[in-house]
Amino acid sequence: MYRTHTCGELRMQHEGQSVTLSGWVQANRDFGALTFIDLRDRYGITQLVFSMDDDSEMCERARKLGREFVIKVEGTVRERSNKNPNRPTGDIEIDVQKLEVLNASQVPPFTIEDDTDGGEDLRMKYRYLDLRRDPVQRNIIFRSKLALETRKFLDGQSFVEIETPFLIKSTPEGARDFVVPSRMNPGQFYALPQSPQTFKQILMVSGFDRYFQIVKCFRDEDLRADRQPEFTQIDCEMAFVTQEEVLQTFEGLTRHLFQNTIGVELPEFERMNYDEAMRLYGSDKPDKRFGMVINDLNDLAQNKGFKVFDSVELVAGICAKGQAGYSRKQVDELTNWVKRPQIGAKGLVYVKYNEDGSFKSSVDKFFSEEDLKAWADCMDAEPGDLLLILAGEEEKTRKQLGELRLEMGRRLGLMKEGDFKPLWVVDFPLLEWDEDEERFFAMHHPFTSPKKADMARMLDGDFETMKSLRADAYDLVINGVEIGGGSIRIHDRELQSKNFKLLGFTPEEAEEQFGFLLGAFEYGAPPHGGIAFGFDRLCAVINGQNSIRDFIAFPKNNQGRDVMIDAPSRVDEKQLDELGLAMKEVKQPE
Ligand code: AMO
Repeated sequence: MYRTHTCGELRMQHEGQSVTLSGWVQANRDFGALTFIDLRDRYGITQLVFSMDDDSEMCERARKLGREFVIKVEGTVRERSNKNPNRPTGDIEIDVQKLEVLNASQVPPFTIEDDTDGGEDLRMKYRYLDLRRDPVQRNIIFRSKLALETRKFLDGQSFVEIETPFLIKSTPEGARDFVVPSRMNPGQFYALPQSPQTFKQILMVSGFDRYFQIVKCFRDEDLRADRQPEFTQIDCEMAFVTQEEVLQTFEGLTRHLFQNTIGVELPEFERMNYDEAMRLYGSDKPDKRFGMVINDLNDLAQNKGFKVFDSVELVAGICAKGQAGYSRKQVDELTNWVKRPQIGAKGLVYVKYNEDGSFKSSVDKFFSEEDLKAWADCMDAEPGDLLLILAGEEEKTRKQLGELRLEMGRRLGLMKEGDFKPLWVVDFPLLEWDEDEERFFAMHHPFTSPKKADMARMLDGDFETMKSLRADAYDLVINGVEIGGGSIRIHDRELQSKNFKLLGFTPEEAEEQFGFLLGAFEYGAPPHGGIAFGFDRLCAVINGQNSIRDFIAFPKNNQGRDVMIDAPSRVDEKQLDELGLAMKEVKQPE
């Protein structure tokens, strides 16, 4: 028997008991006559004591145990003389009578501690060691609990978990596909699913009514803290539902998950339409933990002789409460911040609404105190506040102000940990016009339905009409992170064909790519809709973190590489031959 207890289990109540423990050597402290070892496993750390007086041979062996050696000990639980109140097992120690080394270990390249000395690259290369660290283990165990609670809730709502294939034909979701060559069909490729979208819709045609799957999705896109090339979705679809029922069901799931993992009762799920989100927050995923909304100033700031403002589409600003004391240096620094290429503003106008009611601004030459007071009133500012104003092309300026708002929120500590503000963003545009490519793209995906009121206009409207169509599409946003997105789908062949046409597919192309779905729609497709949550993102947001990598056991780095197994990598020429990929066509790195 390797163990009678875990390393996190023993307490004073076990005093006097003979126990067997197994685990890894966390630390070894040699005091000559006595050697103390901290023994670690997934459950905790227990102190072991070896005494020269009891068994000098064993004590000698214990002194030589290195970090991360795997050992088994037998001994007696006894009360510690100097207790460690910071450790759940800190009242006791094991007086060891028998030591067995199960496996030796090389010296690990970084310390297996909460605050490790290992950098990101090293930890990823030795991910198996990184995964021994308590904070990482906690994240991975949290993830497992979240999946379990998801299944419990959805099972309780009559959802059926159904697996869909990974080797499929491309489903356009806006990113590039990963492709897999087919040996049995030379020259042909599968695509890994960007999501199970078409399959889940077909399952609705098949009558499954409520489907879910905790499923890997694959997207060949640029990576960021909240994006991985393979990530996991809680993917769902429901038949015979309106948007309202989908939102209610997934509000229920979200509440259940927060309650049953961190014990948090979420506040009301606010709703905001896309236009309002863009107008007031410059983003389709507003962080609602704080206000500081965008105020339009065109009426008050234009045609007063300041050319910069007069020549632009939009003059707008935000009000930073209580920040009129910002120094020249701080304002300059903020100006440089908005001028960085990532933000791209041309400059920043500030107005300080001083405590004594006077104003000081960077545009004093052009505007009277009365003008500035009118701006302040329009922005609900009070003495002591700082107004930050940008001007330019409307869409860009709103986005820049949205970024500036988030930056000020960060600087002023307004994004409080443990504060969760869920928000449904609804009524997304159906189509997005791409100026460069001169074509429409689906804002969500090509299967999303226009709002009922817009269906007729979609079938016979002109170009401008198409730009104004709204969709039954919705996103769940928590604290500025897009947790999930979904829509009510088109279940009518004519409307679906029209949508493909607007998206630039010829009837032949649509038939070739989506014939199976269009065909299915001819055999009694019920009205249906659904949503997918980003499971990794949900893990991170519930834990107040922004990197999803910390919640994935074996993540990829920013170059899309798994540095532990060293993938992607070259393949055998023989393998390429078998796949019908002649060497001359595939350039492999040296
Ligand atoms: P969408 O493309 O919005 O919708 O994806 C749903 C959610 O998945 C998460 N997500 C990601 N997480 C990590 N890394 C990525 N690269 C990544 N890409 C997306 C986000 C996102 O909100 N088929 C539709 C859903 C539907 O309509 O039902 C879909 O996939 O949290």
